[in-house]
Amino acid sequence: MSSLGPRRILILFAHPALERSRVNRRLIHAVHDLEGVTVHDLYEAYPDFEIDVARDQALCEQHDLIVLHHPFYWYSTPALLKEWMDLVLEIGWAYGPGGEALAGKEALSVVTTGGRRESYCVEGGNHFTMREFLVPLEQTARLCGMNYLPPLVLHGTHRIGPLEIEAAAAEYRAALIGLRDRTRPVDPTAPVQLLNPEPHTPADA
Ligand SMILES: Cc1cc2nc3c(=O)[nH]c(=O)nc-3n(C[C@H](O)[C@H](O)[C@H](O)COP(=O)(O)O)c2cc1C
Repeated sequence: MSSLGPRRILILFAHPALERSRVNRRLIHAVHDLEGVTVHDLYEAYPDFEIDVARDQALCEQHDLIVLHHPFYWYSTPALLKEWMDLVLEIGWAYGPGGEALAGKEALSVVTTGGRRESYCVEGGNHFTMREFLVPLEQTARLCGMNYLPPLVLHGTHRIGPLEIEAAAAEYRAALIGLRDRTRPVDPTAPVQLLNPEPHTPADA
């Protein structure tokens, strides 16, 4: 552990139908009990989209690493996470004159996609890379003075079986422990870090 001490991690978790989730339900369960990790389930807290801005700003201030964890919906976040950003990231708090509440903190996207890994490239069906699709989140973090870490991505959610989901959940837990304890090296040049187990079999592809 570094002399900086452990990172306090806040997970902003957004899944509008967790009862029908195969993957994210398992992922969030794998990390919810970690010491130093706060899970904020946005759809559970705000089913009517009535976000408590002051409460969530205080939550952000109490943490060092803010995780945006969600399934990929139309190449973006579920609506409530976008609403959260629209309301909570206020001028004078998150950015603009006097807006330094998040400066020096870190942001991490954790995203699951139905699309296969191979489909997220210029030759693939989705044409763009994950990192390109996530540019609005990356630049939002930058505008707020945050360091945007290489996203954790799990692809092909409709095709992976229970064993691969378990492996991804274990990898997510290990990644958060490593980030919390500062024992996991962060490679700023890595476009994304896959939660999919390696090696890929043709069934995964
Ligand atoms: C409204 C909606 C939009 C979606 N958009 C995308 C998309 O743009 N790209 C993609 O790869 N998968 C997309 N998917 C698939 C989801 O990402 C996938 O179902 C999810 O990651 C599975 O996680 P879960 O089992 O926790 O629900 C979409 C699914 C829904 C319901």
